Amino acid sequence: MLTPYANTGVPIERQQIIWDILKANPLDSYILSGAPGVGKTTFARGLESLARAACPKNFAVYSQTAMKYQTDATAVAKGEYVRGLVKPNVLDNPHGIRWAVYLDDVDKLSGSEFIHRNVFDLLNAICDERPLPTQLVLTTNKNKTEFTKFFGDAVAWRVFKHCAWVSIERAA
Ligand SMILES: Nc1ncnc2c1ncn2[C@@H]1O[C@H](COP(=O)(O)OP(=O)(O)OP(=O)(O)O)[C@@H](O)[C@H]1O
Ligand SMILES: [Mg+2]
Repeated sequence: MLTPYANTGVPIERQQIIWDILKANPLDSYILSGAPGVGKTTFARGLESLARAACPKNFAVYSQTAMKYQTDATAVAKGEYVRGLVKPNVLDNPHGIRWAVYLDDVDKLSGSEFIHRNVFDLLNAICDERPLPTQLVLTTNKNKTEFTKFFGDAVAWRVFKHCAWVSIERAA
């Protein structure tokens, strides 16, 4: 899985460059951007396994689709118990646990005020500076301009500072 794949239409050399970047820096933060089917989720899954291997101890990973995050955050707000939902206040913990948050398909988040506030609070907290930075990995079909419009300038600015933007493009 951690190698280029012939059937996405993305040039093999470009895929290889991306894999090389992810392998060299598996605990860094990334926004994996590209059209449907270019391999964003596959890159994210591969990166997650590289990150787990690079940080085998005291590493907590939240890895879900953004839709699942939205459903669970909504349920928690209604007072339901949901196991394993990541919350901003766990990122700074007295146990020295380093967190990673992977959200697949952030474009599918609804525009509701509640979810926007919830996701903003989480992304903001992830982007706070800490001795061991919290890893953030997002996948999106949006380009940088559309992403900024969707999340708003303030959050997008912080997220762009925290993450490397990786464009996964098919050959023209
Ligand atoms: N490196 C790879 N090795 C093997 N299979 C791959 C690889 N990259 C992509 N694929 C396959 O190509 C298809 C599309 O990949 P993927 O689902 O990761 O794309 P995506 O960009 O996340 O798509 P979407 O925008 O629809 O979520 C999948 O069937 C996936 O298994
Ligand atoms: Mg996907």
